[in-house]
Amino acid sequence: EPTSCSENHHQPLFVDRESLQRQIDELSQFSDAPSPAVTRVLYSENDISARRYIKDLMRHSGLSVREDAVGNIFGRWEGSEPELAGVATGSHIDAIPYSGKYDGVVGVLGALEAINMLRRWGFQPKRSLEVIMFTSEEPTRFGISCLGSRLMAGSEALAEALKVTFDSQNMSFFDAAKFAGYANDGQDISTVFLKKGSYFAFLELHIEQGPILEEEGVPIAIVTAIAAPASMKVEFKGNGGHAGAVLMPARNDAGLAAAELALAVEKHVLESGSLDTVGTVGIIELHPGAVNSIPSKSHVEIDARDIDEKRRNIVVNKIRQSAMDIATKRGVVLSEFNVVNQDPPAQSDESIIKAMANASEQLNLNYKRMISRAYHDSLFMARISPMGMIFIPCYKGYSHTPEEYAAIDDIANGVKVLALTLSKLSLS
Ligand code: GLV
Ligand code: MN
Ligand code: MN
Ligand code: MN
Repeated sequence: EPTSCSENHHQPLFVDRESLQRQIDELSQFSDAPSPAVTRVLYSENDISARRYIKDLMRHSGLSVREDAVGNIFGRWEGSEPELAGVATGSHIDAIPYSGKYDGVVGVLGALEAINMLRRWGFQPKRSLEVIMFTSEEPTRFGISCLGSRLMAGSEALAEALKVTFDSQNMSFFDAAKFAGYANDGQDISTVFLKKGSYFAFLELHIEQGPILEEEGVPIAIVTAIAAPASMKVEFKGNGGHAGAVLMPARNDAGLAAAELALAVEKHVLESGSLDTVGTVGIIELHPGAVNSIPSKSHVEIDARDIDEKRRNIVVNKIRQSAMDIATKRGVVLSEFNVVNQDPPAQSDESIIKAMANASEQLNLNYKRMISRAYHDSLFMARISPMGMIFIPCYKGYSHTPEEYAAIDDIANGVKVLALTLSKLSLS
């Protein structure tokens, strides 16, 4: 319409807020939970539809689309010197159960809008620009976080582990991937690995998922480092039995072992003495799950993080010791204690931080430096490329809940910083 048209001519860095908001809303409809909640699980029907939606948008933005064997999606705008390492940006669109519509999505749809903006501006990239949609940043289905980026960064361990990885319905990773149209070359997914140096730079735009920017009224954060996450899967087994007939001294209750371990996690986290140490028991499943049956099996999943890797590892080791002690004390079997991942933190690249700071200044946007306490695909992209992240404010810091919200003006600020930074890096 005329307003946006004239704005377009006078403001080179014009964000099409209306389209971007519409796309965010449309994408949120691909969900297994009723709106405003979003549930979008890897390789589900809704994930497949959402992927199609993203690929269509990529083509509309004039990008050539490529997908790898696990469904990482790449949209490429060829630069005038295509043999040079490209500049990439992106995030994820999978959503944990009953979460919101901004986590990850802002970094994918926002990246496409940044590309559109650069095209409207008449920009000609020298280094190619790429938008990446990563497969399964969230660990929902297979318990593995950042599955796509972890593989891109060359994790042989993960490529091997996936051969024996199943979801809670006992569907194998590869059957699920085939259902979504991927993994067509069998179980060899080494084709997903990228060489170090494949990219000149990788950037990710994301909501803060914390309250600081909103509280301080600062529109942009430049991430300096990403905290170190670890996750564990634990299983206890006992004899089970009738809830009335088996007397208390005769029991070995796998459910109580899980409950005791959950409290031990909290205790060990607090023992670190630092507010930066956090631990969560987000899953406890009891088998057979009947009110009048003593749990014969329990499954516990634990998430522990810190900005200090050594301190985080101390917590992981204490949790392992507690699991063994609890099993002995309660006469249950600790049938599994699996540290699914125990990742080191990642540092942002100084020259990318500088480029983002310059872009913010040029756009008259105040910014601050910040550590990311959530993990992101950038944690793994940092292993093969210089990395940087941009955070924008979100309402009360809410995330992983349907109340998650980011105002379109705040998103637009992030998109502008992203676009300007991409353009500078592309020409360097
Ligand atoms: C990713 O969603 C995380 O848990 O940080
Ligand atoms: Mn998330
Ligand atoms: Mn995210
Ligand atoms: Mn995340």
